[in-house]
Amino acid sequence: MNEEKRIPRHVAIIMDGNGRWAQQHGKERCYGHMQGVEPVRSAIRAAVRNGVEVLTLYAFSTENWGRPREEVEALMELLCRSVVNETPELRRQGVRIRAIGERSAFSSEVRDRLREAEELTAGGGRLTLVLALNYSSRSEIVRAARHLARRAAAGELDPEGIDERTVAEALYTAPWPDPDLVIRTSGECRLSNFLLWQAAYAELYFTPVLWPDFTEAEFDRALEAYAGRERRFGLISKC
Ligand code: FPP
Repeated sequence: MNEEKRIPRHVAIIMDGNGRWAQQHGKERCYGHMQGVEPVRSAIRAAVRNGVEVLTLYAFSTENWGRPREEVEALMELLCRSVVNETPELRRQGVRIRAIGERSAFSSEVRDRLREAEELTAGGGRLTLVLALNYSSRSEIVRAARHLARRAAAGELDPEGIDERTVAEALYTAPWPDPDLVIRTSGECRLSNFLLWQAAYAELYFTPVLWPDFTEAEFDRALEAYAGRERRFGLISKC
């Protein structure tokens, strides 16, 4: 964390409320998802402006496959289209795109578009935008456990030597600092299988604002709330 300005290095967002926003406006759920793209742009702009280093967005959970087929298809199409359309502007802003989650479940079209976006933005040095796609924290931890077990079975790793760092390095998020701030929109107050390991000491910020109404000012409000929190990491207050 940047102590002087108390800006979080890593902000993670559970973008929630697209469906309810659509319902409130008398529209189909997919319309709500479409309206969810502009707030993604706003959050990226605000993150860059504030000097946040990593912004992780929960864009598609492993549980989301259980939604109606048309909604899943619309989300996949929206994701592909957005990634392609936004890449030039993200490059201009110095944003590097990375995706985490189990990609093998996606169509080759989705996988190809993600890979291209990652390659085209690889030089971005101002902000890393991490898209959590077909992601769930528990499956990430299971995957890491299997990886470590395989290494132990191959004699490459001493089981007694496994510590928090070893586990953290086996997670998708190994390259980045843990989130300092997790934001969830739409008034729901839970983590829903998102970055459970990584958010151990994150500050949580819940807002009733539905995702399509989330603006740069809302992002700034979350950062202000964060700046006012005292982070003790299990220790006692400094004053
Ligand atoms: C949650 O709202 C939102 C999603 C499952 C999808 C998130 C997708 C976007 C914001 C579209 C654009 C994203 C990118 C990365 C380009 P919900 O449908 O669960 O809302 P509800 O709880 O009101 O039903």
